[in-house]
Amino acid sequence: MYSDRIRLPSLLEKIMSADEAAALIQDGMTVGMSGFTRAGEAKAVPLALAKLATSSPRKISLVTGASLGNDLDKKLTEAGALARRMPFQVDNTLRKAINEGKVLFVDQHLSETVEQMRSKQIKAPDIAVIEAVAITEEGHIVPTTSVGNSASFVAEAKQVIVEINLAHNLNLEGLHDIYIPAARPGRGPVPLINVDDRIGTKAIPVDPAKIAAVVICDTPDSPSTVTPPDDETQAIADHLIAFLEREVAAGRLTKSLLPLQAGIGSIANAVMCGLLKSDFSGLTMYSEVLQDSTFELIDAGKMDFASGCSMTLSEECGKRVFGNMEKYKDKLVLRPQEISNLPEIARRLGIIGVNTALEFDIYGNVNSTHVGGTKMMNGIGGSGDFARNAHTSIFVTKSIAKGGAISSVVPMVGHVDHCEHDVDVVVTEQGLADLRGLAPRERARAIIDNCVHPDYRAALNDYFERACAKGGQTPHILREALEWHINLEERGSMLAKG
Ligand code: COA
Repeated sequence: MYSDRIRLPSLLEKIMSADEAAALIQDGMTVGMSGFTRAGEAKAVPLALAKLATSSPRKISLVTGASLGNDLDKKLTEAGALARRMPFQVDNTLRKAINEGKVLFVDQHLSETVEQMRSKQIKAPDIAVIEAVAITEEGHIVPTTSVGNSASFVAEAKQVIVEINLAHNLNLEGLHDIYIPAARPGRGPVPLINVDDRIGTKAIPVDPAKIAAVVICDTPDSPSTVTPPDDETQAIADHLIAFLEREVAAGRLTKSLLPLQAGIGSIANAVMCGLLKSDFSGLTMYSEVLQDSTFELIDAGKMDFASGCSMTLSEECGKRVFGNMEKYKDKLVLRPQEISNLPEIARRLGIIGVNTALEFDIYGNVNSTHVGGTKMMNGIGGSGDFARNAHTSIFVTKSIAKGGAISSVVPMVGHVDHCEHDVDVVVTEQGLADLRGLAPRERARAIIDNCVHPDYRAALNDYFERACAKGGQTPHILREALEWHINLEERGSMLAKG
């Protein structure tokens, strides 16, 4: 039994229940788990750990690739099992615990976590828990729908628990390209020149002696929750596609553009869907998460190749893709997130990066993480890895939020994730501001004229004109710069008067 999935016979003897494996995780440990944006997370052991922690309290530092599916962050939080969490999350219950200071959250660029671990700047995992479709004859681990940080977790951990998930089709084998950069100093260039280059191995190498447990599980990934385009996300997509068409007309890009990177969420998905109706062809993707839109572009013959570190699909798209993996295999690769997000490669390939802002200010500084400047939303994710190094760094958002109580374009952002130097283009449903080559005062003019909701335009113009009268390279009235956020906090609306 399971010999098609566990091909090194000695590891068949390591099969145990999730409860038995979870008991290996002790209070105070650092645990590295697979999983990236609800794809490929270990499922049975974290659930068993949550159960165990309610009867036998233990708190761990949990490090993953990114967010987990199957409500695992919620269940681990409710069980009181999390002391620290990094580098990304999207769960409401965990978010609340983070903002109440009950769970300490380390919000990191997703390319950096394992680099810091390998160089011993942050603690390596005591135990790695990795979901797999199979273990090879050599004992190496074949990941599932994400690679995330799993390869380095396995290399750095003292012990490894492998979850063989029967819900994943064995046809995923061969999709992955595992590569860990050499140690520093003396590291050479990472030898990836084209989006479809393969530079590593098809499974995660590990000394089988390190595998302490093998757990069998049969639970699918959670389907993605991306909503279809609405009028506003469609308008954002239209502005962006018109911009890319102008870039082609001006001879700065060809019809196949440059490798596309699209962030998480509905707006980024709408932008990618918008490409379906465009004249572009021969597109490629060098991104983090591959969403439904990637496969729609491949199916429509518009996209030739997509490189990512996870696949997060809706139920319907998942059935189509995972049921026909042979059709997609020569058009896809899943890499470790430090390679999918590597600044060196983003700069070499010249990606077009499309990421989402919560808010941006009149000079183009972007806040992607902190609601009202203080409360964590999800985390910076990979947006910073890409934004600083992209050929063109684009940020999108709707111009207002919460029924108009919030303007997403403000005098000064309450928190900066992407500074003005990393932001080339900003887009809302109102329009697009091309900030390339503009000085701060010109950037403000372009943003106010093109991106702001009409309800907020006069107030922003008034602020900007009075700030300019005071002078400065980047004019501000410091006493007023965050007044809109204070109004929101105290009166429930950014322009509410006392
Ligand atoms: N202030 C406060 N809240 C705001 C806001 C603002 N300026 N703008 C939007 N919001 C709220 C929305 O109302 C919505 O709230 P709800 O969940 O209660 O409905 C929520 O933020 C999400 O906004 P939405 O417009 O639905 O966008 P989204 O789902 O695409 O998420 C981010 C936007 C910024 C939160 C998300 O893209 C993110 O976490 N980005 C950072 C990580 C990243 O970029 N990763 C990709 C790199 S490859």
